[in-house]
Amino acid sequence: MTRPIPDAFLKGIDRLEPLPVTAQALLRSVTDGDVSFAKIADLIELDQAVAANLLRLSRSAAYSGAQNVTTVREALLRLGTSTLLDLVLGDFMKRLKFSAPMYRLSEDDLWLHGAGAHLAVRAIQQERPNSKIPQAALTAALVHDIGKLVMVRHLKADVAVILQYCHDQQVTFVEAERALFGTDHAAVGAAMARKWKFPEAITDAIARHHDAELHHSTPVIDAVVTANLVAKTIGMGLGAEGLNLRVDMSCPRRLGLDFESFSRVCVQTAMWIDDVREAHGLGSGKHPAQVH
Ligand SMILES: [Fe+2]
Ligand SMILES: [Fe+2]
Repeated sequence: MTRPIPDAFLKGIDRLEPLPVTAQALLRSVTDGDVSFAKIADLIELDQAVAANLLRLSRSAAYSGAQNVTTVREALLRLGTSTLLDLVLGDFMKRLKFSAPMYRLSEDDLWLHGAGAHLAVRAIQQERPNSKIPQAALTAALVHDIGKLVMVRHLKADVAVILQYCHDQQVTFVEAERALFGTDHAAVGAAMARKWKFPEAITDAIARHHDAELHHSTPVIDAVVTANLVAKTIGMGLGAEGLNLRVDMSCPRRLGLDFESFSRVCVQTAMWIDDVREAHGLGSGKHPAQVH
């Protein structure tokens, strides 16, 4: 169901910074295939930060783990344009650097939560290689909470008021958003995705990732809902919402995940996210060894 979005948020979405040129070209390449490989390689070579990240990622265990990749073109061939799109979008989200007090998320939390969900989809693909999860699910997981960006920019909401409302009315955090502000971060995120011309499968997954009962779900939505739960379970971006969310458990079931395999996905995701945190100088979540 599409919920109308109040004017203040629509104006905020209109004023959003555009996506980086590289991300726009990659989106066009992924959706229409109308941007050549050579053009993408040229764009990446102009962007030092993305080029360095691309090389690092292509050598990391979560991706190809190929130590001998030395050029942007080799890395691009190995990883493909969808993975590169995720890398550029992740970099964009990381550079936005905003804290979100109404969600009790610090500057890096929102990006890390998206990165955790993205890696969770990879872990599900590894756990269930026959589940046929489309590549779009990886991108959708990365950006599923992007609506929080506009919510915090246009609301001076006190998190204590939201939490009190959740407590008094016995509702989830996202239901409190809807009741108090007339919209929620899923609807706002979907409107942002439409403005940025994301493929429909991704926009749809962002819009419905908090629906308690999903009608006509898709493999992308199943993956995003499950990945969000994995990220939360391993403590990535819990924020004020914590685990106060409804999850349609038919999503992990449709992906063939039972309790044991879900737990393995959580462990794998936690190990990969530790590598990502360390690579970005954020320290790992690993606890230091005790010294006696
Ligand atoms: Fe969300
Ligand atoms: Fe989330």
